[in-house]
Amino acid sequence: MSEKDEFSHKIEEALRNPRNLGEMEGADAVGTVGSVDCGDMLRMWVKFREEGGKRVIDRATFQTFGCETAIAVASVATELIAGKTPEEALKMDSRELSAPLGPLPPVKIHCAQLVEGALRSALAPDSTPVNTEALAPTLLESFQGRDAKPKQIKLEPQE
Ligand code: FES
Repeated sequence: MSEKDEFSHKIEEALRNPRNLGEMEGADAVGTVGSVDCGDMLRMWVKFREEGGKRVIDRATFQTFGCETAIAVASVATELIAGKTPEEALKMDSRELSAPLGPLPPVKIHCAQLVEGALRSALAPDSTPVNTEALAPTLLESFQGRDAKPKQIKLEPQE
């Protein structure tokens, strides 16, 4: 199987049963980003728990208007970050967050960066605390302008 076919197969698999798709009630942190490059948006919700005296990510969920790759990356990324501290999760870049899918084609790298951006938006220590109740309940309502403007991220090419 060629690398391209293998990638397509992994994306199809992830889309057949996307993990952690949907909004999360009672989330502790929320991050929403929009790509200035492709115009897509992604929101990630995070819930923490205490484990061994540390705060770790209990679970994360997402919604997106992104492409299939963004959905697949968000699906695997939300599984990868479960059980990590926010600091550990913040050290992961888009390449690590999408690793279970294998190397992304260059034209799809920005889709993984959208996921990384949403995660950073939710977990960045310097981000202002999010009042999740003040957010539009769905990403669609955000997109329709009933929410605070999402952070716009500029997606940089990876080396
Ligand atoms: Fe925009 Fe994939 S093309 S997220």
